[in-house]
Amino acid sequence: MRWTHPVSAAKIRATVDQSALDKLREKYPRRPDSPKINQFEDADYWIKINLKRVQDLWLDRSSPMRILDLGCGSGFFLYICKLFGHDVTGLDRDTNPMFRAIVEFLGVPRIDSDIEPYVPLSNVGAPFDLVTAYRICFQRIPTENKGVWREWGPGEWQFFLNDVRPRVLRPQGRLLLDFNPRDDGTYFDLDVRELFESEGARFFRSKVLFGSRRGEQPKFKILKPADNRESVLVP
Ligand SMILES: C[S@@+](CC[C@H](N)C(=O)[O-])C[C@H]1O[C@@H](n2cnc3c(N)ncnc32)[C@H](O)[C@@H]1O
Repeated sequence: MRWTHPVSAAKIRATVDQSALDKLREKYPRRPDSPKINQFEDADYWIKINLKRVQDLWLDRSSPMRILDLGCGSGFFLYICKLFGHDVTGLDRDTNPMFRAIVEFLGVPRIDSDIEPYVPLSNVGAPFDLVTAYRICFQRIPTENKGVWREWGPGEWQFFLNDVRPRVLRPQGRLLLDFNPRDDGTYFDLDVRELFESEGARFFRSKVLFGSRRGEQPKFKILKPADNRESVLVP
């Protein structure tokens, strides 16, 4: 569908001043051993990745939605959503000065907040049509051993879903979690998968999609008309 409904990455790219991003990087230098994935000043790279995310959800052709991105990082996903007319809000912990600077540069509104286990998500305002979280890390809890993490289990995830779905999503809203692969290629433990299944999640590779109510199986691709808030489901 990306092929039959092309969008010009070059036009999007032309809206971003690379020299301004380079200046931000000079101000906040990257560690020499930092991988490519952390080169947040590389607009070409991040626009390509995030345009694909936008197109995978048909956000390039949907009527305006209210979109919240959890762990929004440098904000390129929401920046592109904004170009397509969506009303966007990011949420991230305020620990990375380069993220803060790029988000401000891109004009993406951000709520500075930590997502904590068994703590309701901070107040994010009116409910959203779509809540996303790409390459999430907030489910990793540091342990006493440096570099060793414990991940949220079914209890923490149940609390999160019970909080976010009725309060932060509109009735037809969707929640998309996109997981980083673990060293063994899996994304989460079996008991977490079973919980997600029991909640009606739809799975696609690293992505898990939830509707606003338990047991409701949403679609990845939805076109939403602007005036009424009903979604048009696309087969
Ligand atoms: C791997 S980065 C992904 C950034 C962006 N979503 C992307 O795909 O490019 C993970 C993001 O989650 C944020 N994060 C990690 N733990 C968090 C927490 N407990 N609460 C809020 N944000 C958190 C980090 O600051 C970072 O921006």
